[in-house]
Amino acid sequence: MTRTIAVAGKGGTGKTMVAALLIQHLIEHHSGSILAIDADPSTNLHLVLGVPLEETIGDIREETLQEVSRGGLGGISKHDYLEVRVNQALVETERFDLLAMGRPEGPGCYCAANHLLRFCIDHLAKSYDYVVIDNEAGLEHLSRRTTRDVDLLLIVSDPTMRGLIAASRVVDLIHELETHASHIRLIVNRVSVDGDGRPTLAPQLESVIREKGLELAGLIPEDSTVADYDALGKPLIDLPLKTPIRRAMNEIIESLDGLV
Ligand SMILES: Nc1ncnc2c1ncn2[C@@H]1O[C@H](COP(=O)(O)OP(=O)(O)OP(=O)(O)O)[C@@H](O)[C@H]1O
Ligand SMILES: [Mg+2]
Repeated sequence: MTRTIAVAGKGGTGKTMVAALLIQHLIEHHSGSILAIDADPSTNLHLVLGVPLEETIGDIREETLQEVSRGGLGGISKHDYLEVRVNQALVETERFDLLAMGRPEGPGCYCAANHLLRFCIDHLAKSYDYVVIDNEAGLEHLSRRTTRDVDLLLIVSDPTMRGLIAASRVVDLIHELETHASHIRLIVNRVSVDGDGRPTLAPQLESVIREKGLELAGLIPEDSTVADYDALGKPLIDLPLKTPIRRAMNEIIESLDGLV
């Protein structure tokens, strides 16, 4: 059975970083196969995972529509054609595979290609033990059901009142959408540390988390190594285990007790 874990939240809160460190943890602690899906049109998960990317699903959709308008796919069915193209867009590495969604379909585009693409991606995803989806800031992908039913939804927030309110809106939206999340957990990122180096939240923020009924998985401290890696374009997946951010992320995953 495939276990699907999606990461969502407000813009710039650390979703891509969490997705990368989650993948890193899976590689180190589990033997299963991993498919990383970059569901953000600005396509940057491959950079933090340190792999090249040539094509996105958005590129394939555009190209297929052009081919069809030019006169067809040379006798191959659209489904077979798209299945081959999706497999070509898959970045395969020894540790994980990656698929980037790229640009979303334009407004009002109800083309059959989208439906078929979704079908092909679903089919592909089923052959992995883990699927990790890095979402864009809005909930477009969730509402378009690029992110299908998920076993675990990790919502990332910054340690602010506005961030936590946005996080609780994500939970409300999930309940309104057809997407089903079996478990939803909150991660608060970029938290300041106390004198002992432990990340701590202001009591007001703890109250909001309780009031909104959010289930806190854990806190990740502000960590200057991340900025250093990002500044030099070094993949976050190579962050050493001794860094505060990785230690925090590993503690969080272990506390999720069987959900990952
Ligand atoms: N704990 C942290 N300590 C220091 N810097 C961090 C931390 N977490 C994230 N950052 C920095 O914050 C920025 C945003 O992180 P990231 O790209 O993971 O967020 P995002 O939610 O995926 O953003 P977007 O909404 O644009 O996709 C990056 O420059 C990253 O280096
Ligand atoms: Mg991101």
